[in-house]
Amino acid sequence: MVSMRGHHLQAIEEQERCCYPGREYVGYAVLPIAIYQFAVLLISALTKNEHLLFNREDIIDKNSIETHLVINDLHAPYFHEEILGLVLKFAKELAPDKLINLGDQVDCPSISKFDKRAERVTTIAQDFKSGYIANARVAEATSKAEHIFLYGNHEDRFNSYLAGHHAMEELVDMDEKIGLKDYGYRSIPYGDEFEYNGFHYMHGTSARKFAGYTAKGELYDHWVSGMIGHTHRSGKCCATNKAGDFAFFENGCLCDFKLAWEWFKKPFPNWQWCISVVKFYDDRWNVHQINIPRKNPFIIYGKNYYTL
Ligand SMILES: [Fe+2]
Ligand SMILES: [Fe+2]
Repeated sequence: MVSMRGHHLQAIEEQERCCYPGREYVGYAVLPIAIYQFAVLLISALTKNEHLLFNREDIIDKNSIETHLVINDLHAPYFHEEILGLVLKFAKELAPDKLINLGDQVDCPSISKFDKRAERVTTIAQDFKSGYIANARVAEATSKAEHIFLYGNHEDRFNSYLAGHHAMEELVDMDEKIGLKDYGYRSIPYGDEFEYNGFHYMHGTSARKFAGYTAKGELYDHWVSGMIGHTHRSGKCCATNKAGDFAFFENGCLCDFKLAWEWFKKPFPNWQWCISVVKFYDDRWNVHQINIPRKNPFIIYGKNYYTL
């Protein structure tokens, strides 16, 4: 025997079931979701991972990640001593697998067409010695790394010089004179590139006016990803098409900005101090460009902070 009130409630329930079909199953789903969320919170707390339970770092074998430190355009002897010191401090702690130097390590003012005032008059031997010392300092700070050196247009000044002095050819081995042999650098001739897992390192042969414009030119000319020095600017250009994702980088410089006065009579060149850390995992790569501010220079990477 069902009362009138019972009939009324039964009618309401049927009506709600009509409006919200499956409503009675919702309760069954809430429990496992709650258990899952609780498990995520518990495991995250236990592993001190505040953000992700399935952190990819936990899945990737960290030993198969290769780290490259990329520097360029020191223009010895006109590199900025404090900035080089800061970069070497960072390099020692980073302990990269490869040190990639994109060239213009040696300015070679003795065979330059630029300003020849008395304070800039050097000999080729002095120029090479300054390059030797700079390469040695970089190699000693990255002693565990494989060293790759790409010749730039400033080192290539010597090849141009030799072209007019054939009698001197084979007399001077530049690899030896600037320390590449003594410190185990693999050298890449000017104009060639070093490719690693589809990422193309080169010195660069052109410099457009604004940061990123030269990177854009390289990317749209070749449709590959990579990095150049030479422009002394820090920039980036990305592009995507059916073939995939591409990015090209300009890696700034590490020279003293006073050099711009010698070259262009510009006291404040549109240059940037920059280095890059490139990480590879299989055929994947990830570029971390690190710009170093001109005033109060510092490097911050991961949880570490480096200053002069
Ligand atoms: Fe340069
Ligand atoms: Fe250059």
